[in-house]
Amino acid sequence: MDFDTPINRIGTHCVKWDMMEKLYGVPADGGLAMWVADMDFRPPASVQNAVQAMADHGIYGYFGDDTAYLDSIRWWMKTRHGWTVEAAEIFTTHGLVNGTGLCLAAFTQPGDGVVLTTPVYHAFARTIKAAGREVRECPLALTDGRYEMDFDAWDRLMTGTERMFILCSPHNPGGRVWTPDELRGVAEFCQRHDLILVSDEIHHDLVFPGQKHTPMPLAAPGITDRLVMMTATTKTFNIAGSHTGNVIIAAPALRAKVAAQIGALGISGNSFGMMMTPAAYSPEGAAWVDALMAYLDGNRSLFDAGMAAIPGLRSMPLEATYLSWLDCSGTGMEPAEFIARVEKEARIATNHGASFGTGGAHFLRFNIATTRANVAAAVERMQAAFRDLQ
Ligand SMILES: Cc1ncc(COP(=O)(O)O)c(C=O)c1O
Repeated sequence: MDFDTPINRIGTHCVKWDMMEKLYGVPADGGLAMWVADMDFRPPASVQNAVQAMADHGIYGYFGDDTAYLDSIRWWMKTRHGWTVEAAEIFTTHGLVNGTGLCLAAFTQPGDGVVLTTPVYHAFARTIKAAGREVRECPLALTDGRYEMDFDAWDRLMTGTERMFILCSPHNPGGRVWTPDELRGVAEFCQRHDLILVSDEIHHDLVFPGQKHTPMPLAAPGITDRLVMMTATTKTFNIAGSHTGNVIIAAPALRAKVAAQIGALGISGNSFGMMMTPAAYSPEGAAWVDALMAYLDGNRSLFDAGMAAIPGLRSMPLEATYLSWLDCSGTGMEPAEFIARVEKEARIATNHGASFGTGGAHFLRFNIATTRANVAAAVERMQAAFRDLQ
C-alpha cells in the first residue's frame, strides 16, 4: 500500500487533471489538481486483479449473477458499519448522482421542493433543478468553525411544498460526521414535514481515526418507512469511473416506486463495477481503507497546519472525507481575488465554494487525496501566494 509514489494521470482523459486548464485556467504542466473528488491512488490489489482477470478473459458481455456482489455489500455493511441489509433491499444504479435522479423521479413531482442543507455537494442542486424540482436551501449553522444543524430555523423555511430531504452523511464539504442525536433530529424533521429522507452515505468509510459514522437506520430505526439509503464502493476505493452505486430501501412501498423507475429507464449493472465491488468489499479492501485513512490523516495535519500559518485562512477540522474546506473570509478579500491568487499564483485548481450553495462563497474546497509531496507543494504555494498577509 504505497500512497507516496506519484502516478502521472495527465493524458489519461481523466477529468481532474486533463480538464483543469479548460475549467480553471490552471495548466496541468506545473499545476496541481485539487478539485473533483477522486484520489490520485490506485485501488487495492484485489480490485486491480479483478479488472485484470476480466481483461485477460477478454469478453465484456452483460452482467448477470449478482450473488457475490450482493453478498459482499451485505458483508461490508455488517462488518464495517454494524448495519444489517437484506439482498432484496439493494438496487444497483449508475452511481449516486444517478441514484439521486431516480429518487427525484420516484418520489417527487415537477415543482416540488427538495431540502438541502447548504453548503452541500453541488450535484444535488444541479440534479434537482434539471428535474424541474425546487431546491429548498436550509443553511447549516457555522458555530466555532464547524457546521451544525439548525432545525428551528429550518422549520420556519418550510412552505408545505417540500417532499424530500437529501442528507449528506458524512457531510461534503466540511467533513462533519453527524452524531446519532443530529441524525435523529433530521429523522424527526422529516417526520414533522412529511418528507422522504434520502441519506447519501457515500463518504461513510472515509472517517478519520477517533470518529464513528452512524448509518441513519441505526440512529433512527423509526424512520425506515420513509428512508432511502445510498452507498457506493466508488469514493472509498477510488473507482468512480465504474459508475456503480447502491440505493438501499427497506420499505416495500418505496421499493416498488424505485423499481418502476429503474424498469422505465432500463438501468442494469455495469459489469466492471459489479466485478470490482466484491474485490473491494473484502478483508484486503478493509485493510487498504485503514491504511488509506492513516495516510490521509497525515495529509490533513500537514494541510491544516500550513493553512493555519497564513493569517486569514483556516481549514475546517475534517472528521471525514478528504475534501478540506478552506475558509478564506478572514483575508477580507472578495472571492474573485482569493480565487485568482490560488489559480494564477499558486496554480492550484480547487472547487469554488459558491457552487455548494448558500454559505459557501468565501470557501474553497481542496482535495487532499494525493501524494504527501503534492500536499506539501500546495502548502508552499499557498504560503507564497498569500505572503503579503504574513
Ligand atoms: C455526497 C456525494 N454524493 C455523490 C457523489 C458522486 O457519486 P457518483 O460518482 O456515484 O455519481 C459525490 C462525489 O463527490 C458526493 O460527494
